[in-house]
Amino acid sequence: MSEQATRISEKVSAILDKYRHEEGMLVSILQDIQAEYNHLPKDALVEVSRRLGIPLTQVYSVATFFKAFSLTPRGRHSIHVCLGTACHVRGAVRVLDEVERELGIKAGETTADLKYTLERVNCVGACALGPIVIVDDQFSGEMTIDKVKPMLTSYD
Ligand code: FES
Repeated sequence: MSEQATRISEKVSAILDKYRHEEGMLVSILQDIQAEYNHLPKDALVEVSRRLGIPLTQVYSVATFFKAFSLTPRGRHSIHVCLGTACHVRGAVRVLDEVERELGIKAGETTADLKYTLERVNCVGACALGPIVIVDDQFSGEMTIDKVKPMLTSYD
């Protein structure tokens, strides 16, 4: 077993202990693993399956059912660019293009340094302030391409 797999195994073990190895706590167990790694590593899912004695397919079906879970590494910060109709007509596509250009990734991807995950969303209910960009929980309204770089450099 690789060093990383051993570390994951130990961490999963501690999380399972916390939930007393109860199969009914699978969602909470996966939430804790996601919080630890910012995604659900394959080795962790295999370990959960093995230790709880439930099929790996069952673990994967829960892991892929909830949108909050990710099977691929995510950035420390999530950027959501609204492309709903109101934001779209106010220039959201140009804003998204600029974010993609600055980060060197496309929507749906994560930067290689795992700093940012970029996603597009539809209306987030703040149309009057569009275009809207949300970084983590912070809304920025009336976004322009000039505001993109200062916004990105303000995060660690
Ligand atoms: S369309 Fe972007 S907030 Fe409504």
